[in-house]
Amino acid sequence: MKTLIYYFTGTGNSLAVAQGLCSRIGDCELVPLASLAKNAAPIIPDAARVGIVSPLYFFGLPAIVAEFASRLDLSRTTYVFSVITMGGSGGSAAIRQLEGILVNGSGKRGLDAGFSVRMPGNYILMYDSLGQERIERTIQAADRRVDEIAEKVKGGVRQMPGWSPFASLVHHLMYPRFVRGVHDADRKFAADDRCTSCNTCVDVCPVGNIRLENGRPAWLHHCEQCMACIQLCPTNAIQAKKTEGRKRYHHPGIGVTLLKAQGKR
Ligand SMILES: Cc1cc2nc3c(=O)[nH]c(=O)nc-3n(C[C@H](O)[C@H](O)[C@H](O)COP(=O)(O)O)c2cc1C
Ligand code: SF4
Ligand code: SF4
Repeated sequence: MKTLIYYFTGTGNSLAVAQGLCSRIGDCELVPLASLAKNAAPIIPDAARVGIVSPLYFFGLPAIVAEFASRLDLSRTTYVFSVITMGGSGGSAAIRQLEGILVNGSGKRGLDAGFSVRMPGNYILMYDSLGQERIERTIQAADRRVDEIAEKVKGGVRQMPGWSPFASLVHHLMYPRFVRGVHDADRKFAADDRCTSCNTCVDVCPVGNIRLENGRPAWLHHCEQCMACIQLCPTNAIQAKKTEGRKRYHHPGIGVTLLKAQGKR
């Protein structure tokens, strides 16, 4: 059975999970959903099995993933699953959000299964990165979780997370405000004198939200708040809020070249 996995990633965690699933499932293609964001046409996947892999943002979906899901018509698909990567907890709220969007969309067809995977948190505006040892342990545990999920997907298991009152409450309290401000939140970003005009931030931005002006990044205010530019800058030149002095993180198996491919297809 052919499988298509759509993914969105900022710092590589979700891409690493999507890659891990694809290689374990077999006959599988990865599609960066940011590459489909440039028009409003419905998306009808040419595969019997479809997966959607995304990070968790404020107990909900990244805005670009929610918009993508609203255009996805899965009525011809046999099995649909989603995997949410997150630094802490609350993946069930994003899975329920995704289910709601799909069921109310043009395909009127929701998920068969939804899973969450703990990964190192990347939200540097709020907290520092884990140390090296904890990053390695977290990623090893995530790999074991990906093994389990791949087996369930291959077996066509139907498994949705139960309703969590806590996750649902946090989603309702925090997510709408996040989404309202998300595209403009790059107004807090600035590059300091460590910038070497290397272009990495431009390359890793999944939504083409950065260009270099006079050798320095300029942000164009359609940001997804994925943190890739801040986290991948090789000289730690990009700051926002309290990021100065915080360690930078990206998934060790996913570098600039793979992230760069995301918006271009
Ligand atoms: C804007 C933003 C909001 C986030 N909100 C949450 C959250 O509510 N709960 C959580 O557990 N992790 C949260 N995270 C952490 C990410 O979900 C997690 O690190 C994810 O694996 C990153 O995936 P990526 O490397 O594919 O971008 C947030 C990250 C960002 C950038
Ligand atoms: S990645 Fe960092 S050093 Fe390179 S252009 Fe962007 S801000 Fe400057
Ligand atoms: S500007 Fe930075 S945080 Fe915003 S979408 Fe691009 S890479 Fe992500």
